[in-house]
Amino acid sequence: ATEAEEKDLVIIGGGVAGYVAAIKAGQEGMKVTCIEKRGTLGGTCLNVGCIPSKSLLNNSHLYHQVLHDTKHRGIEVGDVKLNLAQLMKAKDTSVAGLTKGVEFLFKKNGVEYIKGTGTFQDEHTIKVALNDGGETAVRGKNILIATGSEVSPFPGLEIDEKRVVSSTGAIALEKVPEKMLVIGGGIIGLEMASVWSRLGSQVTVVEFLDQIGGPGMDTEIAKATQKILKKQGMIFKTGTKVVSGDKSGEKVKLEVDSAKGGKPETLEADVVLVAIGRRPYTGNLGLENIGLELDERGRVIIDSEYRTKIPHIRCVGDVTFGPMLAHKAEEEAVAVVEYIKKGYGHVNYGCIPSVMYTFPEVAWVGQSEQDLKKAGVKYRIGTFPFSANSRAKTNLDTDGMVKMLADPETDRLLGIHIIGPNAGEMIAEGTLALEYGASAEDIARTCHAHPTLAEAFKEAAMATYSKAIHF
Ligand code: FAD
Ligand code: NAI
Repeated sequence: ATEAEEKDLVIIGGGVAGYVAAIKAGQEGMKVTCIEKRGTLGGTCLNVGCIPSKSLLNNSHLYHQVLHDTKHRGIEVGDVKLNLAQLMKAKDTSVAGLTKGVEFLFKKNGVEYIKGTGTFQDEHTIKVALNDGGETAVRGKNILIATGSEVSPFPGLEIDEKRVVSSTGAIALEKVPEKMLVIGGGIIGLEMASVWSRLGSQVTVVEFLDQIGGPGMDTEIAKATQKILKKQGMIFKTGTKVVSGDKSGEKVKLEVDSAKGGKPETLEADVVLVAIGRRPYTGNLGLENIGLELDERGRVIIDSEYRTKIPHIRCVGDVTFGPMLAHKAEEEAVAVVEYIKKGYGHVNYGCIPSVMYTFPEVAWVGQSEQDLKKAGVKYRIGTFPFSANSRAKTNLDTDGMVKMLADPETDRLLGIHIIGPNAGEMIAEGTLALEYGASAEDIARTCHAHPTLAEAFKEAAMATYSKAIHF
C-alpha cells in the first residue's frame, strides 16, 4: 500500500464495534476499509452470540409454552413435536439475513470490505492474509482495533464443541442431551441452560459465587430469578466450584467442591457447557510489532478518547475495558469515529443496560443495592410486583417485580432492576430516565398507558417516595 492509497480509517474486526464504526465513518465521508477474517460480518454477536441465542430462546420458549402453558388458557393442543433441525434452520435464517444486511449497509455507505486476517506491519500499515489465499496490505491515517473477545477455556477440559461445548457449540447441538452440566451461572450459562432445559434436557448449573446472574445482577433480583428458574426445572449448585473435568469416558465428568471448602462431589453429563466468561482477543494482531502492550487481563490499554499510546491507533468493543456487550460496543464505535472526525464523542458508562433473555427476562441499569451499600451511598427502595399489575395478571404471567433505587434526599434515580415479562424492552425507559438524570417522581408523574406492564414501572417509582396505588 502506498501513501497515496492511504485510507482515513482502517478497521480490524467486523463485529458490532467494527462494522458500526465502518458505517458511521462512511456516513461522515471518510475513506474506510474494514478487515474481517470470519467470512461474514457482524462478529460474535450476529454469528454466534446475541442473535442465534435469542432465536433459540424465543423458539424454545414457544415450544415449552405450547407444551406446558396453554391448557389453562383454554387452548388444547395435541401431538406437539420438536423438530430440532428446523429450530436450528430458523436460527440460521435470522443470522444469514442480518449478516448479509450489514454487507449491504457497507456497500450503501462506501465501505471497503476485505475478507482476511489483519496484522500490524508498522504503525500505519496492516498486512492482510486473505481468506481466499494471497496477501495484501492497507495503509490507514487512523486505525481502529475492534477484534472482540473469545471464550475463556476451562483448564484441563478441552472444548470440542460436541460434548464439551462453549456457547458456540451450545447453539448448534444436533440432539437434545439427556443431561447437561453448565460451568458458570452467568448470563451465557443461564440463557443456554434455559434453551436446553425447555427442549427437554435435565440441566444442572454449577456456580462458584453464592448468587447466579454474575456479579452485576442485584442480589435480591438474582435470588428471585433462581427461584423461578428452579421452578422451571433447572438444578442449581451455587457456592460450588468446578475444580476439574474429565471427558475420557462415555459421560463427561466434573469434580466439584464447595467454594468454602467441603465435600467434593463428581457430576456426570452427556454435554458440558463451559460458560466462565470471555477474554479479549488479540491473536495474530501483531501488537508486538508496534510495541502496544496489554493489561493484566489481556485488554488493549486506551485513554478516554479510545486512543492507545500510539494516538492514531484507537480501540473499542470487547477487546478493551468495560462490559462485554454489543450495545456498549456500538456506542463506542459511534463515539470513536466522532472523536476522529470532530474531536468529541460521548458514551455514558453509568448508563449501559444489561438484559438476560431468560423467561422471565431480567434487566437492569445503574447501580445495584449491593453496589450502593459497598460505596456507602444512602438510597430508598421502591418495588412493585407484577402479580399486582393488571396486564401481567391478564396475561397470566405474574412472576417478577420492578425495583427502583433512588437518592433519599434528591430523589434522583440510582438504579433500576426488573425481573418480569418484557423486562428487556421496559428497561429502555429506565435507561432514558437515568440518562436524563430523572427523579423517581418524574417517572411516577409521567402518564403510562393502561393496561401495560410499564405501569408496574411507574408504580415502583411511586413506591420509592410515596405509596403505590395497586399494592
Ligand atoms: P466481536 O463481535 O467479537 O467481533 C470481533 C471480530 O473481529 C470477529 O468477527 C473476529 O473474527 C474479528 N477479528 C479478530 N481478529 C481479527 C484480525 N486480526 N483480522 C481480522 N478480523 C479479526 N451482547 C449483548 O449486548 N446482548 C446479548 O444478547 C448478547 N448475547 C451474547 C450471547 C453469546 C452466546 C455471546 C458469546 C455473546 C453475547 N453478547 C451479547 C456479547 C456480544 O456478542 C459482544 O459484546 C459483541 O459481539 C462485541 O462486539 P465486538 O465487535 O467488540 O467483538
Ligand atoms: P460471566 O462472567 O457473566 O459469568 C461467568 C460465571 O462463571 C461467573 O458467575 C463466575 O462466578 C462463574 N465461574 C467461573 N469459574 C467457575 C468455576 N470454576 N466453577 C463454577 N463457576 C465458575 O460470563 P459468561 O456467562 O460466560 O458470559 C460472557 C460475557 O458475554 C458476559 O460478560 C456478557 O457480557 C456477554 N453476554 C451477554 C449476554 C446478554 O447481554 N444477554 C448474553 C450472553 C453473553
